[in-house]
Amino acid sequence: MAHTILTSNCQNKPICLLGLLVLTLSVMQTSDATDPIPVGKTGIWSPNSTNYIQWAEETTFTIGDSIAFHFTAGKDSVLQVQQGDYTNCITGSPIYAFPNDTGYNVAMFNYSGTCYFISGIKDHCLKNQKFRVLVRANTNENPSPPPPNGASAIFLSFIGYLGAFAASSLLLAF
Ligand SMILES: *[C@@H]1O[C@H](CO)[C@@H](O)[C@H](O)[C@H]1NC(C)=O
Ligand SMILES: *[C@@H]1O[C@H](CO)[C@@H](O)[C@H](O)[C@H]1NC(C)=O
Ligand SMILES: *[C@@H]1O[C@H](CO)[C@@H](O)[C@H](O)[C@H]1NC(C)=O
Repeated sequence: MAHTILTSNCQNKPICLLGLLVLTLSVMQTSDATDPIPVGKTGIWSPNSTNYIQWAEETTFTIGDSIAFHFTAGKDSVLQVQQGDYTNCITGSPIYAFPNDTGYNVAMFNYSGTCYFISGIKDHCLKNQKFRVLVRANTNENPSPPPPNGASAIFLSFIGYLGAFAASSLLLAF
């Protein structure tokens, strides 16, 4: 059940990720964000350098994680696509096309679900320059929510009771 919900979240939103060009590493280091995960371990985005599909299956992704792609500017690109376009290497209708003018992209996962990435060059995609990731919800946050405060809950219901009493008194008064 959870999987269905998560999948629809990610697939249909223009982006489980932020099409972000990270300009300086110092920006990353001064924030709390973790470093981007290099695509295929090496960070190189090219048709025959890595088995991206296997790499993605073996890697755990959580909301807030990001993936870094390096390629020769203008010679390749990163597309986030729907499942069918992923399967068939259709590059014409991406959910999001990352800018390819610097040769460096960082895709950040904002939502859980399955995200599909392919090369913007169909021929490269057909050579398996593509992968999909299952982004998991962050399970570290609030593992056990604090129990409701019994005293204030009772207080609120008392206020509610007073309100109801006042209202009925008003009704009776007229
Ligand atoms: C990738 O393919 C190119 C052209 O076919 C070739 O020159 C290069 O050596 C290949 N790289 C790897 C890592 O196989
Ligand atoms: C680079 O991006 C431009 C603009 O989106 C696009 O027209 C072009 O096909 C892309 N080039 C490659 C090699 O993917
Ligand atoms: C993704 O998260 C980043 C960082 O919080 C935010 O700047 C960006 O707007 C988000 N993108 C979407 C599509 O929600």
